[in-house]
Amino acid sequence: MRPIESRIDTGGVAYAENAAVYEALVATLKERMQFAINGGKGRERSIERHLARGKFMVRNRIDLITDHGTPFLEFSTLAGHGQYNDEVPGAGIVTGIGVVQGSPYVFIANDATLKGGSLVPMAIKKHVRAQEIAEENSLGIIYLVDSGGAFLPLQDEIFPDKDHFGGSFYRQARLSAQGLPQLSVVLGGCTAGGAYVPALSDEVIMVEGIGRIFLGGPPIVKAALGEIIEPDDLGGAELHTRISGVSDYMAATEQEAYGKLREICETTNQRAIADRQSWADCQEPKAPLYAAEEIYGIISADDRIPFDATEIIARIVDGSEFSAFKPEWGESIIVGFARVWGHLVGIIANNGIIFSEAALKATHFIELCEQRRVPLLFLQNTSGYMVGRDSEAGGIAKHGAKMVAAVANATVPKYTVLIGGSYGAGNYGMCGRGFNPRMLFAWPNSRIATMAADTAETVLVDIRLGGLKAAETTDEEIAALRAEVRDQYETQSDPYYATSRLWDDGLIDPVDTRDALGLCLALAARQDEPAPGPGLVYRM
Ligand code: COA
Repeated sequence: MRPIESRIDTGGVAYAENAAVYEALVATLKERMQFAINGGKGRERSIERHLARGKFMVRNRIDLITDHGTPFLEFSTLAGHGQYNDEVPGAGIVTGIGVVQGSPYVFIANDATLKGGSLVPMAIKKHVRAQEIAEENSLGIIYLVDSGGAFLPLQDEIFPDKDHFGGSFYRQARLSAQGLPQLSVVLGGCTAGGAYVPALSDEVIMVEGIGRIFLGGPPIVKAALGEIIEPDDLGGAELHTRISGVSDYMAATEQEAYGKLREICETTNQRAIADRQSWADCQEPKAPLYAAEEIYGIISADDRIPFDATEIIARIVDGSEFSAFKPEWGESIIVGFARVWGHLVGIIANNGIIFSEAALKATHFIELCEQRRVPLLFLQNTSGYMVGRDSEAGGIAKHGAKMVAAVANATVPKYTVLIGGSYGAGNYGMCGRGFNPRMLFAWPNSRIATMAADTAETVLVDIRLGGLKAAETTDEEIAALRAEVRDQYETQSDPYYATSRLWDDGLIDPVDTRDALGLCLALAARQDEPAPGPGLVYRM
């Protein structure tokens, strides 16, 4: 592979202006991350009470369990951002991948300092998504349970539907059946739905004095049976470990429980999987030739000015080396092979609007990667497929559909990063959320919507003026409609709006992209080789 020769003038004015704007975007991201970790209206009192009970904060718990000096890849830290009156930052739950006894596990850990760790709708979504990630990457799950179960005021958004609370139990039972260890440490009161997380686990540890499990807590027992009973007598560690058998071990302290958990992780035989011959090609990693921070100066502060995806690739891949496929044809998409932390990967990156040739080139390249069993990485920055008479006459709809069908049917691991715009069917062809990439990250400059705000404004006004209500529509109403549509599109295409709703697995600083992708590819490499694809037939 040949190194990319960067054409960026890092001493230029435009570079400096772009970098200043991007640094402000990263500062906002970091500030909002801090709020998600420590913030929340009136949270100080509940943190104080939590600590006074001798309990650890949720991220300290994860630190105490994971191997010293190993990375933790946290998902969707900003879930719930701007929702629930900012009272439940991070949606009250921490999920991610951490290493225990040398093997990666997914963590699902409730934050009891936020609404008693009860699950708001975005918390359920985050819990279920973490289980999905565990399944795709063949990982066991460690549940740190400290939760009042369903957040009762919003029960209709949590309880009844597919992928609501029931869906999480369905997944948990099936993950266990696939041989993926499901381990729970009970660190708080687990009532009703919450009780089933430990009850469905393969092994359960309860911490004395803080961990409790009951289908109905003391108030329900009083109402139903007239019995007055202390929480520990109804569902404490001793009762469940010595009498009911719902729990397998009890620990006097959290630290003791984590020691026991690490001991259990030594017996789950996960390292045997890791030690197997990896199916994926991996070489000694090499750092890129160009600094990742330069991405700040490359991305135009004005999102109408395009930037060259090759320059981004040069700052993510090993040695900045990239073997481009069909570089002289269909240039609005760049495709080719590279390595990230040693792992071979096929990259598909937008350089603007997708034309027919670019769609065909991408389709062809997806076929190549599928045939060679090489994972795919999509770098999205497009306003979508080309419109207009020539484009339609050239069959853009069928060419775009070939790309969409190839992405949908590719069986190799797929990863997506939103490095700019993600609009219209471009989102689909470039492996948006609906196409199940194993992981989808977004940058703080990204935008996601059916179309950009300027376009939406014009389209909706034109529809109104072409419709039945055209004659009675005044100029003031048109102006109001324009403003309303623009406002709606700007709000809803904002990356914080998206990450709050888990349309991605996390908003990340571009500088961290290489490490995040390297981790994801390493997880895929330790799995068995996926079965070959079904052999698509394209309608050319
Ligand atoms: N739904 C909505 N809010 C809940 C909740 C739930 N299931 N569980 C706790 N909360 C809220 C409380 O209202 C309180 O809110 P506030 O800070 O706005 O006042 C906050 O979480 C902390 O609860 P609190 O009871 O003061 O904390 P605690 O640490 O002493 O007890 C629990 C925590 C989880 C053990 C206890 O709140 C509890 O038993 N909750 C109800 C559990 C239940 O019946 N769940 C049914 C699920 S199907």
